[in-house]
Amino acid sequence: MHKQAILVFAFVVAVANAWSFTVWQGANKSGKYRRYFDVHAGNYCFNLDTEMTNAGIQSFSYCSMPWTRCSITIHSETGCNGVNLGSATGNAPVDEWNKDQTSAEGSLMKSFRIQGCQAAPIVGTIDCQKCSRDPF
Ligand SMILES: *[C@@H]1O[C@H](CO)[C@@H](O)[C@H](O)[C@H]1NC(C)=O
Repeated sequence: MHKQAILVFAFVVAVANAWSFTVWQGANKSGKYRRYFDVHAGNYCFNLDTEMTNAGIQSFSYCSMPWTRCSITIHSETGCNGVNLGSATGNAPVDEWNKDQTSAEGSLMKSFRIQGCQAAPIVGTIDCQKCSRDPF
């Protein structure tokens, strides 16, 4: 029993993501997509794949684990520059942020920033490989 418990814990730590952000070329999470995630609750800026940004982003999802509560901001230019197109605050806490149809301005997003993550210990059941309402 004891050994099994340790193995389960190790598995959970290995696969648990601190947050997950997925963008789709189509509305309602359809068409080509890219999923971004990290097991580390770090603070950083990501540029979106240019194949995606050239086509435009029509829908997206974001989730942050309760033990990290990372916030996200979405930006109109690479390097998290330009206009802040939207944000979700991990302190809320935002477990999920689903957008089935971005605005015309939002569809032109090029980067996003993850920040304000908490370094809380992992407690309970966790899995953020994808957001719970993502179709795949
Ligand atoms: C997305 O879903 C909504 C609600 O079901 C629907 O009205 C809309 O037509 C859908 N858009 C696309 C592009 O499929």
